[in-house]
Amino acid sequence: MTSNTITPILLQLLCFFIYISRAQSGVGVNWGTKASYPLSPSIVVNLLKSNGIDKVRIFDADPLVLQALSGSNIKVTLGIPDFMLQGLNFSLKAAENWVHDNVTRYVDTGVHLQ
Ligand SMILES: *[C@@H]1O[C@H](CO)[C@@H](O)[C@H](O)[C@H]1NC(C)=O
Ligand SMILES: *[C@@H]1O[C@H](CO)[C@@H](O)[C@H](O)[C@H]1NC(C)=O
Repeated sequence: MTSNTITPILLQLLCFFIYISRAQSGVGVNWGTKASYPLSPSIVVNLLKSNGIDKVRIFDADPLVLQALSGSNIKVTLGIPDFMLQGLNFSLKAAENWVHDNVTRYVDTGVHLQ
């Protein structure tokens, strides 16, 4: 790796707040995508896998991020941005539509939404 590629990686890693789940084994990270030089999602997924990270928390339903995670066997906790909460809280149908429109296509058969 050259220093040109290492700098964005370090910036992106600064956005990772590593947490260790006490209830389950394994290491998960929060994946924030607000970086000066964001890495391509497929590179991040490869970094996660090569470091044995099997859980990730993301903060919105970014299609490119979800596409990269799809089929990776990494467990994903998907956050909903604050500004969307009121709209999704408005009705069960609105929440179901959001999941259908933004999440369903990336979920492998047999994976459970919680
Ligand atoms: C969601 O709806 C419930 C019941 O209508 C309400 O008590 C709660 O404050 C709402 N939350 C948000 C984030 O809008
Ligand atoms: C998700 O779906 C809703 C409509 O159900 C849409 O308004 C919203 O922009 C979509 N995208 C994201 C990233 O949440």
